[in-house]
Amino acid sequence: MSQLQDIFGRRFHYLRMSVTDVCNFKCGYCLPDGYRPNGKHSFLTLSEIEQLVGAFAQVGTQKIRITGGEPTLRKDFTDIIRAVAANEQVKTIATTTNGYRLEQHAQEWYEAGLRRINVSVDSLDPRMFYQITGENKFDSVMRGIDAALEAGFERVKINAVLLKDLNDKDLPRFLHWIKSTPIDLRFIELMQTGLGAEYFNAHHLAGADIQARLLAEGWQLDQSDVDDGPARNFSHADYQGRIGLIMPYSPNFCSTCNRLRVSATGKLHLCLFTEQGLDLRDLLQSPEQRPELVERLHAQLRLKKETHFLHQGFTGVTQHLASIGG
Ligand code: GTP
Ligand code: 5AD
Ligand code: SF4
Repeated sequence: MSQLQDIFGRRFHYLRMSVTDVCNFKCGYCLPDGYRPNGKHSFLTLSEIEQLVGAFAQVGTQKIRITGGEPTLRKDFTDIIRAVAANEQVKTIATTTNGYRLEQHAQEWYEAGLRRINVSVDSLDPRMFYQITGENKFDSVMRGIDAALEAGFERVKINAVLLKDLNDKDLPRFLHWIKSTPIDLRFIELMQTGLGAEYFNAHHLAGADIQARLLAEGWQLDQSDVDDGPARNFSHADYQGRIGLIMPYSPNFCSTCNRLRVSATGKLHLCLFTEQGLDLRDLLQSPEQRPELVERLHAQLRLKKETHFLHQGFTGVTQHLASIGG
């Protein structure tokens, strides 16, 4: 099997596969007020997804995260999980969700083969949750997290984008939560996208400041694991949960990059920020096209850049992260 690798020696065994760019929340960091993707694209079909997964598995992909927009809005979401699970090379199937459908479907998705879930919870204060996401769904998302823990998922992670003058005062509440709950909490530094400059200027909080606060409170940086990708993980003897920090503006962020992305319309993105994406869809139409698809993936990988250059002031060509699944 020929493993995907770039010219900097990074190996890519993790695919983030977006299945829709539609979302039912209105998180300010993701889409500017009033802007909605038109949702008129035709998203990858189940059969195209099967071809995609087959080709990536052949080049060493062991983990697939199903992303969006909000991936669980796809009516065939459970069938998508089953289609990925049917490929024996793929060892881990994960998704990232806003948690909206979790309470009702956690068990069904687990039974279909989903094993890890990351849920966005930007605040533990219901009013702040509403202010950031535009949806009054805090209680049902929290019940969804309980349902996921009960369903037996091997990992449930919580994502919070930390935002100046919004949820930055919530840090103590988050810490209190994981004191006795074995949850992986992840703080994500706000990233500037093409459409998000205004929001970024108002709410960006430096990842390094968050790290300094954690270190001051006795959190310790863990040894990094190959599965961590760009996140830095911290633990604390008095807490059952762990904290991960995603700090895209730190200089070496990309050196451990282990992931590739395919958009909901079938474009390969070598990075979240550096290019427009290359269409793969023409080669997802039949199993006979597999060798050509595999060859295209290897050829593209040679073009992956060393970094996203965000730390040098570059904002990238990506208009919003919902288009590529974050
Ligand atoms: P694990 O698979 O559990 O490691 O999680 P993940 O970080 O890959 O997945 P998740 O979808 O929870 O990521 C949360 C957010 O972190 C994404 O939506 C992005 O905003 C950000 N993120 C994840 N990976 C990268 C990356 O490679 N580069 C950048 N700049 N941001 C990333
Ligand atoms: N900056 C940081 N994270 C973002 N996400 C979306 N847009 C941004 C942004 N501009 C991430 C959040 C959310 C996930 C679905 O996408 O982590 O949890
Ligand atoms: Fe990889 Fe691009 Fe993310 Fe850097 S920003 S870690 S290169 S995907």
